[in-house]
Amino acid sequence: MNNLVVVSNRIARAKANEPMTGGLAAALLPVVEKNGAIWVGSSGRLSDNQSAPSIELESLGRGTLALLDLPAAHYGGYYQGFANSALWPALHSRSDLIRASADDYRSYREVNAFVAEALMRFRKSDTVYWIQDYHFLALGAELRHLGAVEPIGFFLHTPWPASSIAARIPNHRQLIESMLAYDLIGFQTDDDCRNFAEYIRRELGLEIDDGVVTSRFGLSRLAVFPIGIDVDGFASMAARAITHPDVSRLRLSLRGEALAIGVDRVDYSKGLVNRLCAFDRLLTQHPSLKRAISLLQIATPSRGEIEAYERLQAELATLVTDLNGRHGEVDWTPIRYLNKGYGQSVLAGFYRSAQIGLVTPLQDGMNLVAKEYVAAQNPEDPGVLVLSRYAGAANELDAALIVNPSDVDAMARAMHTALTMSILERRERWVAMMAKLRAHTIHQWFADFVSALEEAPTRRAFVDLEPSLVPPAGAAASGNARVH
Ligand code: G6P
Repeated sequence: MNNLVVVSNRIARAKANEPMTGGLAAALLPVVEKNGAIWVGSSGRLSDNQSAPSIELESLGRGTLALLDLPAAHYGGYYQGFANSALWPALHSRSDLIRASADDYRSYREVNAFVAEALMRFRKSDTVYWIQDYHFLALGAELRHLGAVEPIGFFLHTPWPASSIAARIPNHRQLIESMLAYDLIGFQTDDDCRNFAEYIRRELGLEIDDGVVTSRFGLSRLAVFPIGIDVDGFASMAARAITHPDVSRLRLSLRGEALAIGVDRVDYSKGLVNRLCAFDRLLTQHPSLKRAISLLQIATPSRGEIEAYERLQAELATLVTDLNGRHGEVDWTPIRYLNKGYGQSVLAGFYRSAQIGLVTPLQDGMNLVAKEYVAAQNPEDPGVLVLSRYAGAANELDAALIVNPSDVDAMARAMHTALTMSILERRERWVAMMAKLRAHTIHQWFADFVSALEEAPTRRAFVDLEPSLVPPAGAAASGNARVH
């Protein structure tokens, strides 16, 4: 393999027993450990020195972590601002939540340029760069400006929305055109890839032939690489986890009661409000289920400095209190609601202890919790996955009980169906899902993307080309100035 440099905002230094937020870092950890890439990401510390990136190296199995202090002056505008208050809501089709200033965009571009400078330190003649996720849409363009001609790939872990929504992102043309500096742009699903292609045609007026966009920057291939998990590794971790003290305590406390489990970051894309309402509906419609089922909802705090997240956190706390107050008994609490994170190995044991896995996002790139829940099950007595059709995972896991997360009644019915499903049907569905998971593991995902990227032809650097010369449709060119 070439000298591979992987880049993501958040990296995982964590071992299996430490909490991790988000699927991306958890997914990349085992492949970097095994394949030996350099994984560059934020150290979590900020630096006042904007011109000279400080990098700390740590080893991670066969790979290396390169921890970068990001510039303090731009971090807020980049992370809380443009990345998580403009791009994240837009990518999850919540254009009503887009809030970002021109300064936020400037900071986003500054941080992308800063990381590009840092990456040049790892550049060798056979380097290939693989950039992850929406924090770094413009990083490839910044690398080309610094003279990089090597293959640069990009993978989006989130969905890509309809072009009418993407067009609501501030500075969308400049930003999305800059993505064409990438040789390979990977998506989770066909829908995401199609939506992106439609944006490129409609808003940028470019042709796409057989999945390849031709722009003045060169050729960019669009392709789909559904991310997977280490199926057998996760399954054996789940079997072992049964003896973990947290898992044993959970099992003991159930006293034969069935358990439904949800594990999510507190994020409006995860559909938590509707899920709680559906559980409420289930208990209201089937009072006999009191003491027969409870819900363990792990809701890991996330991006709490952003107002939409803070509001959601408060709304969920109110809903849980209200539901527990109405349905609870002196010796029984319907929802165990936990605002903290758990390590992968404990989660694996929790999943195996739950008869129902609830993965009901309103919109999700893939959702690896769905895959992990399935892999963690006891083959003799597997639980049932209730899965939103709007999670990327639903494309493969079509043997789950597929639900519309906006239809609270239908979700309550699905939970009831899951609870009463025969063991024969549970096994059949589980076997079908495991076969799908084995066909697309995380190792396969990694190998497929890297080999497609290594095939990319060498580009020329575009030191002489401004990233955004595409005029807004029907208007004179505006907003073309480079932002730093
Ligand atoms: C999602 C994103 C990741 C992100 C994770 C956690 O999975 O796709 O890029 O790292 O959420 O979010 P955070 O803002 O805590 O990094």
